Amino acid sequence: MRVLIVGGGGREHAIAKALRRSPHSPELLCTPGNAGISADAECLPDVDTGNVEAIVAAARERGVDLVVVGPEAPLVAGAVDALEAAGVPAFGPSAAAAELEGSKSFAKELMKAAEVPTASHVLLRDHEEAAEHLAQASYPAVLKADGLAAGKGVIICQSEAEALEAAAVFFTERRFGETAVVLEEFLDGEELSLLALCDGENVVPLAPAQDYKRIFDGDAGPNTGGMGSYSPVPGFGAAEVEEIVDSVHRPVVAEMARRGIPFHGVLYAGLMIGSSGPKVLEFNVRFGDPETQAVLPRLRSDLLDLCLATREPGGLAGSQAEFGDDWAVTLVLASAGYPESSSKGDVIRGIGEAAELAEVTHAGTAERDGEVVTAGGRVLNVTALGGTPAEARDRAYDAAQRISFDGMQIRTDIAARAVERVAS
Ligand code: AMP
Ligand code: GLY
Repeated sequence: MRVLIVGGGGREHAIAKALRRSPHSPELLCTPGNAGISADAECLPDVDTGNVEAIVAAARERGVDLVVVGPEAPLVAGAVDALEAAGVPAFGPSAAAAELEGSKSFAKELMKAAEVPTASHVLLRDHEEAAEHLAQASYPAVLKADGLAAGKGVIICQSEAEALEAAAVFFTERRFGETAVVLEEFLDGEELSLLALCDGENVVPLAPAQDYKRIFDGDAGPNTGGMGSYSPVPGFGAAEVEEIVDSVHRPVVAEMARRGIPFHGVLYAGLMIGSSGPKVLEFNVRFGDPETQAVLPRLRSDLLDLCLATREPGGLAGSQAEFGDDWAVTLVLASAGYPESSSKGDVIRGIGEAAELAEVTHAGTAERDGEVVTAGGRVLNVTALGGTPAEARDRAYDAAQRISFDGMQIRTDIAARAVERVAS
């Protein structure tokens, strides 16, 4: 069996490594891939992955049996619809179902219809509506661009003045092409990422994970794509996970089916766990990055079988995703300037030594004159497993210390919370 992975980050590298463990021994291709994925899959760097037709052409040319789409943009652009229409099986939602991530207002409206707990909100369509609602809002309040914004479309505003300024930026710059802005109640608590595989009808949860969004220790500084993760999460065992899936994922999947836009693929709920229970912050329609790097190494079931089963209505009936009882900690090594910018071309040393101690997945790397160099904001991920959170965490930091490049940024507090909770 031949599988094509679309994407070139740490998430796609983790997916490639998990697919390599499949008993089907699939032949793996990845477009565009990166300097590390090339050890696990044949990379196709020249396909324009921003163009759905180019993805379809590559898949057909290489006769692939399954395409696994990593990032959101091709999903929202209809990659799965185009592939399936061309007779190429694809893992992921249709463009219509991907609107759960592609449009915050669609997701909010659907959650309301499905009675899924989430922050209250109003939709602001212009400056006038913004001025009116922002004068009455309580602060802090949250403003969100309606469309895809690569993690940069959320602004937490402490005052009306800040909110007016943020709304003005959204409306005048239309940075993310948005025509509307969502004003949302601020939720307090701790975040949890719970991903589940869906076949249009059934929901199979994966292990929960926690992601560290801010660039600096202690959750300080601006938001990033994610600076680290760990899995599982203390306090969220099988019973708690079932409860969340029952109140969030299953009602969403049922409502989507009722509307004739069944959800196939992986539904990622970003949750805030507060005093009144879990509430949804956002949905993503793909694997999380860097959650996937911590979750998939613990998966004992065959990822390939599970991905294939999501395509058929009812295909996941009776399936479960089995996880080991080990802990995984993933550290993100970012380049100088991230998240505002990124430094490219810095030589990376020590990957081989680190890989003897832990799993190293590549995110923004490239090869230059036989050396691996930085090529993006998030450069590498180091994932270690252990019998306790402390063991996994110590191993991950030990391995990461072997790696160096100019301006390397790494948070020092990833999974410290889990270590504390499990010890106490
Ligand atoms: P999103 O792109 O919707 O995931 O939002 C990015 C991040 O912004 C989330 O992971 C939270 O840290 C934060 N956030 C989003 N919505 C809210 C909210 N209603 N209350 C508090 N924080 C939020
Ligand atoms: N870790 C956040 C995301 O994948 O969107």
